[in-house]
Amino acid sequence: MIDWKNKFVVVTGAGSGIGRAMAVALVASGARVLACDIVEPALLSLADELGDAVQTHVCDMADPLAIEALGAAAVEQFGTIDAVFANAGVIANGPLIKASVAEFDWVFGVNVRGAWATMSTFARIMLQQDSGGRICVTASEHALGLQHAGAGIYTASKHAVLGLADVLRAELPPNIGISVFCPGLVATDLGNAPRPDGVAVPGERQRALGKAVQSQGMPASLAAQAALDGTARGDFLIVTHANALAAAQRRAAEIEAAFAAQAPASGDVARYDVNRIVSEILAAQKGS
Ligand SMILES: NC(=O)c1ccc[n+]([C@@H]2O[C@H](COP(=O)([O-])OP(=O)(O)OC[C@H]3O[C@@H](n4cnc5c(N)ncnc54)[C@H](O)[C@@H]3O)[C@@H](O)[C@H]2O)c1
Repeated sequence: MIDWKNKFVVVTGAGSGIGRAMAVALVASGARVLACDIVEPALLSLADELGDAVQTHVCDMADPLAIEALGAAAVEQFGTIDAVFANAGVIANGPLIKASVAEFDWVFGVNVRGAWATMSTFARIMLQQDSGGRICVTASEHALGLQHAGAGIYTASKHAVLGLADVLRAELPPNIGISVFCPGLVATDLGNAPRPDGVAVPGERQRALGKAVQSQGMPASLAAQAALDGTARGDFLIVTHANALAAAQRRAAEIEAAFAAQAPASGDVARYDVNRIVSEILAAQKGS
């Protein structure tokens, strides 16, 4: 369990919603925060509220070069980076068969490329530190198997986030903790983030629906605290909304039933295990 007091923490998507609440809670716990967002006025208002404990950095999380520059700025400001919350994310609503390529590229650019670039950039920094560090990436309950009809690209992007984090925890040493934050509905402005040229802005009806749904969510402060606590404990999965469990169980049961019917375990089950094969080949190459 780590104590946030005097820790140096980077939070992305800190201008609004969950990220803003993470920054507020971290500062309340005595941490110093580098708050990043694409919307500068939101960062300035956060800095006004929180004072000297917060530095701000305007950054487009869809741009890996900008994220590298963020990493360099964070090291310059703090020296050591104790934790990063890779939290920035966007959603596009509408049925998959009507989604545009621009929407796909935008959502995957921020949610997946951005999450990968943020986790990789800060993992490289933490690998240079004796103290290691903590990386928490915000996915969603949709990563656990809860379909979000009407937000298919978003749902797929959050599965990708879970996949990236899962591989990263296998690739990194244990002194770099990886957590995947999987909240359900949280009362934020999700859906109203600035959109690049070519990505359609939702109509009045869609916006009103989004607002009505989102406003019924868990308070962002509660969700953010769960992310901070889970990261401090070193939990891999951080969950908040019990409704998602039934969906996760349905998926697990579906997988189990498919294997039982189509590929039941018998004989040498490790024969085609790719991890076993790769490590045996590498070990043989090392020995030769
Ligand atoms: N609100 C929910 O119900 C919910 C549920 C599950 C997961 N999430 C996830 O939580 C995270 C935070 O979302 P939120 O609900 O607080 O929404 P939000 O819109 O209130 O906050 C997201 C922040 O990210 C910023 N952002 C958007 N695009 C960016 C970019 N290209 N570069 C940098 N910053 C950018 C926005 O300006 C905003 O300040 C997201 O990853 C979202 O997918 C939200």
